[in-house]
Amino acid sequence: MQILTSFCAVVACLVIGGRAFLNGHDLSSTGYMETQQGALWYDTNGKQQTLETILGSGGMNSVRLRLWTADEYGLQYTIGLAQRFSKAGYSIYLDMHLSDTWADPTHQAVPSGWDASSIANLSKKLRSYVSTTLQAFTAKGVKITILALGNEVTGGILFPLGQISNNNFSGFATLWAAARAGVRDAVATGTANPQVIIHIDNGWKQATVTWFFKSLFATGKVSTSDVDAFGFSFYPFFSSDATISALTTSLTSIANNYKKPIYVAETDWPTACSGVTLSASYPINAQGQREWTAAVIAVLKGLPGGLGAGVFYWEPAYVTTPSLGSPCQSALLFSVSWYESKAYAKALSSVELYI
Ligand SMILES: *[C@@H]1O[C@H](CO)[C@@H](O)[C@H](O)[C@H]1NC(C)=O
Ligand SMILES: *[C@@H]1O[C@H](CO)[C@@H](O)[C@H](O)[C@H]1NC(C)=O
Repeated sequence: MQILTSFCAVVACLVIGGRAFLNGHDLSSTGYMETQQGALWYDTNGKQQTLETILGSGGMNSVRLRLWTADEYGLQYTIGLAQRFSKAGYSIYLDMHLSDTWADPTHQAVPSGWDASSIANLSKKLRSYVSTTLQAFTAKGVKITILALGNEVTGGILFPLGQISNNNFSGFATLWAAARAGVRDAVATGTANPQVIIHIDNGWKQATVTWFFKSLFATGKVSTSDVDAFGFSFYPFFSSDATISALTTSLTSIANNYKKPIYVAETDWPTACSGVTLSASYPINAQGQREWTAAVIAVLKGLPGGLGAGVFYWEPAYVTTPSLGSPCQSALLFSVSWYESKAYAKALSSVELYI
């Protein structure tokens, strides 16, 4: 511990409640960028390196990966990436979408082939899926440090049975509890206990965030002890109300209410963005990416009880999709040149986001 403390003093790492603050990136698309686009990564000096070396030099210590119940972010692909990044020394945040495709507040499709004829049957399938999936990572030598059961579950999971409607959290709570039980099943067979989180969007929106967790725990089906930490998406381009100050208010109230670690599970800032009102006035370039992320980190580090636990920049190297589902044109941390259908990705100064 003393060695850890002095090491941390040297590299200015912050240990909260025995855990290092996580400076993460979501690198889910890396495999496809490399195998299908032939992506080559260059550091700010123009030297070719692995992606993890470049981002690791920029202070990354953790990697977030999404998992779908089908291709293309399926089990084998995601285990492969998790092995690669964990062998390189990065802790793994596994983001289970519980769907064959993208899951977000309005899309939570039941995986094909899952029996959704009743909540009991769907719960049973979900529980065994979570358990066998975690065991598959364990069998391949990957330890999951953070596990999100569902991605941006503000509207529920596994629609329609797990959809929250008219303030009715019953179906969602039943299903989420089943997923949580699946984690316990895996742990009982020897999987290391992950930190289990619930991840919702719009972390800045205090009323929604408060309503969500209050309603969930009021069902009595999920207790606060089932949830180890909270994760929130926080983007600057979906609402001009998504300010740093709104985030501070919202996350402070969650910290005070539940006294559990809090992550900003997804964020980014654009280098190209026209026709969109952003929620902060940082420049639309690499410097702005650093300033926005630094502001988010400052919010987390200022939370009561030292509960700010980490931040994950979303897909900084998704070179085929620089707009990242946002209304802006790019939020990558790389500038990309294409030559003969191959991506040459050169790091912006913002790859040093975390140092
Ligand atoms: C649920 O699963 C059982 C066992 O597989 C099956 O007999 C039943 O028809 C399914 N559907 C419902 C609505 O219970
Ligand atoms: C909430 O939804 C469940 C089905 O998921 C239903 O059984 C229950 O009656 C609903 N509760 C209320 C108060 O409407």
